[in-house]
Amino acid sequence: MKNIVILISGTGSNMAAIVNAARRQRWEDRLGAQVNCVVSNRADAGGLVFAARQGIATEVVDHKAFATREAFDAELTAVIDRCQPALVVLAGFMRILTPGFVQHYDGRLLNIHPSLLPAFPGLHTHQRALDAGCRFAGATVHLVTAQLDHGPILAQAVVPVLPGDDADALAARVLTQEHRIYPEAVARRLAELPAQ
Ligand code: GAR
Repeated sequence: MKNIVILISGTGSNMAAIVNAARRQRWEDRLGAQVNCVVSNRADAGGLVFAARQGIATEVVDHKAFATREAFDAELTAVIDRCQPALVVLAGFMRILTPGFVQHYDGRLLNIHPSLLPAFPGLHTHQRALDAGCRFAGATVHLVTAQLDHGPILAQAVVPVLPGDDADALAARVLTQEHRIYPEAVARRLAELPAQ
């Protein structure tokens, strides 16, 4: 079975979209894949409740309990590796990862970012797109490399910026598309992996 581990920090709506797609599209039968663990760096992440209700194992690795990024990433790696992941999916996981962590999951680590990369890596993407006068915004699924919010692009979705948009309105429009492209990109990547 190709195990999928999803990392979250908050609401986990992208995680939920992937879990729902996996069930609706019968990924176990069609792709030999299952979401078998959801890991959060925050104990109060709303997505943990959803995952537990779906019968998915949940884990919390609180970054505040570690003195360095390296120590946090070492514990995170230990927790993830117990799940023997074929893919590690970052879904609103708001921590900067060390090069060692990224290297460990080379080719197996996916992220979704709420902008049309390479535009607007980092935070506050929607406000920055509005401030720049962009007529279009969107989201990008990419393989994670050592450079933050870079790496080969696997999928993108474009939405219009509409008159009167504020950052929240634009974020909501983009998020709807994230929920469409992220499960699609994960399924495509799973299909490319050798059977396990
Ligand atoms: C999503 O918009 C995701 O693209 C973004 O956080 C949100 C998480 O929402 N990720 C980043 O900004 C990563 N740098 P969710 O918890 O409801 O999926």
